Order: sequence, then C-alpha cells, then structure tokens
Amino acid sequence: MTQIISVIGAGTMGSGITITAASAGIEVCQVDVSQEQLDRAKFYHEKTLKRNVEKERMTQDEADAALSRICYCQDHARASESSFAIEAATENSEIKKKIFGAMASTYPSNCILATNTSSISITEIGKSVGEAADRVIGMHFFNPVPVMKLVEVIKSPSTSKETLARTIELSEQMGKTPIAANDHPGFVSNRVLMPMINEAFHAWNDGVAGPDEIDGIMKLGCAFPMGPLRLADLIGLDVCRDIMLVLHEGLGHPDKYAPCAKLVELVEAGHLGNKTGRGVYDYTS
Ligand code: 3HC
Repeated sequence: MTQIISVIGAGTMGSGITITAASAGIEVCQVDVSQEQLDRAKFYHEKTLKRNVEKERMTQDEADAALSRICYCQDHARASESSFAIEAATENSEIKKKIFGAMASTYPSNCILATNTSSISITEIGKSVGEAADRVIGMHFFNPVPVMKLVEVIKSPSTSKETLARTIELSEQMGKTPIAANDHPGFVSNRVLMPMINEAFHAWNDGVAGPDEIDGIMKLGCAFPMGPLRLADLIGLDVCRDIMLVLHEGLGHPDKYAPCAKLVELVEAGHLGNKTGRGVYDYTS
C-alpha cells in the first residue's frame, strides 16, 4: 500500500522534503496556509524534476508520476490517511507549538508527529501535546534537501522506540541516511556548524579578511563544498542568528555563542541571504 505523509510548510525545507518523498514513491500532502507559497513550491518541484529528467536521473514518466503524488492544500486535507505529519514551518517555538496542537488533534493516534526544527527543543514541543509526546520526534533535513544525504533524527526522553524506528524507516525510504542524536540545544549539526559560521562573521568583522577570502580559504583549505559565509546565505542569515540565540540561551558561555554583531546587522537590514537576493553576497545581478 502506498504510504501517505503530510508536510506542513511549503518553504525551502518543506518543499524540499516533499519532492524528495514524492520522488521516492510516497504520496505527499503539501500543506501551507499561503496559496502563494504552495504555488512557489509547485514551481520548485517541477523545476527539480525537469532537471532530473535532463540529467537522466529519472524518465519523464517517473517525473510525471512523482508530481502526481503531490497534492497542494491549504488545510490538512489528507490528515486521516497520513502515517507521518512532518512540520517544516517558521523556526519559532510558539508557532511550532500551535501547529503541533493542531496536528495532535487532527491526525490519527498512530501518526508520527515530526518536526524539521533546526534547534528548537523536541522535549518542549512534546510537552505541548501532552499524551502524544511519545509520537513527537525531530527529523532534521539539510538544505538543499534533495541533495543532502543526512536526516538528523532527534529523540526526546518521551519519544517511543516505535516512533524512532518508524522515522528511521521513512528516512531510508526517502533515500536518506538517518543518524540519531539526543535533544540538546542545536543537536549535533548546528552545535558544531553554527559557531563556525559565526566565527567566520567575526573574522570578517575583525578585518582578518573579506568574505571572498574567508570562503576561499575555508573551501580550498578544508575541502568544504562552499565557504561558511556563502553557506550562511544559503541557510538564511535569520536562521543562523536564531540558532545562535538558541545555543546562547541553552548552553550558557555568553561570549562563546552570542551572534556576531555583523550577522545581526545584516539580519536587521533585511539582508537574509539567497532568499532575499542579498546577504553577505549580492545575488541580484
Ligand atoms: N534543489 C535541488 N537540487 C539542487 C539544489 C536545490 N535547491 N541546489 C543544487 N542542487 C543540485 C544541482 O541541480 C546540481 O545537480 P546537477 O548539476 O547534477 O543537476 C547539484 O545539486 C550541484 O549543484 P551546483 O552544480 O549548482 O553547485 P555545487 O556543485 O556548488 O553544489 C551545493 C551546490 C549542493 C549546495 C553544494 O555547494 C553543497 O553541498 N553545499 C553545502 C550545503 C550544506 O552544507 N548544507 C547544509 C546546510 S546546514 C542545514 O541545512 C541545517 C539547518 O538546520 C541550518
């Protein structure tokens, strides 16, 4: 029987999760309150599939079948049939808890309630849904989702063994490699990655070198696919700032984890990276 999942949030991460799942043969209900966001997601899905056909990674029939597995909905239209609801909405704890409240009351009692949060506590989200906490788990995908192999699976003390096993199974079905971690601020990935990105902003702010040089040095010297400042633009500078704030509040060491003034300055100016056309670099030309 074909598996059906719902992905709540059609932004960069949600739309990436959707196309990855649909390409792996899973039916997906892509949910977002904004029709504009759903239209953007559909455009991205068509573009990604077209690229895969051009690159002979799939046939046109397979691409058509993948697209036909996605329904675009402003409500939880396929909730009753879904075995997984994966939340990929704005990285804001109150918004996520509100969505989880709706998920817990709308989806069946055996549906896994997963979040793609990059740093918000899974334990706290679990607490907000009471008895459903054993079905709450972190399913942290990486940008760009169709390309990046990892799903960081985060369990809270309340997450059941069955929830963990089913999440690992779904991740593998989607062609990803799941690796489990415990629920601590930033988990593993962002606890290690974000301070490095923040340090790159400090190096720039201190005049050690400009962005091109910092990225060039880290790319060529450490074999990174892209430098830390360009990666920050890809992730979103607001997301980087917010994750640093989670580390700052959650881990203590105020000087170590405070977001760099240069990063905060760009966010406050609305320069959020690729998604706004300008961040550390200018993408408008
Ligand atoms: N969607 C689908 N496919 C994409 C894509 C996207 N958004 N972006 C790139 N690709 C595909 C391209 O189509 C291309 O495939 P093809 O040429 O075979 O069709 C392939 O990826 C490589 O892309 P490019 O040739 O354009 O460029 P690069 O070789 O420089 O690769 C990159 C781009 C894959 C983004 C690479 O630079 C990279 O791996 N960067 C590091 C990304 C990374 O570290 N991500 C993790 C961020 S942390 C995170 O997400 C966690 C969060 O909590 C903060």
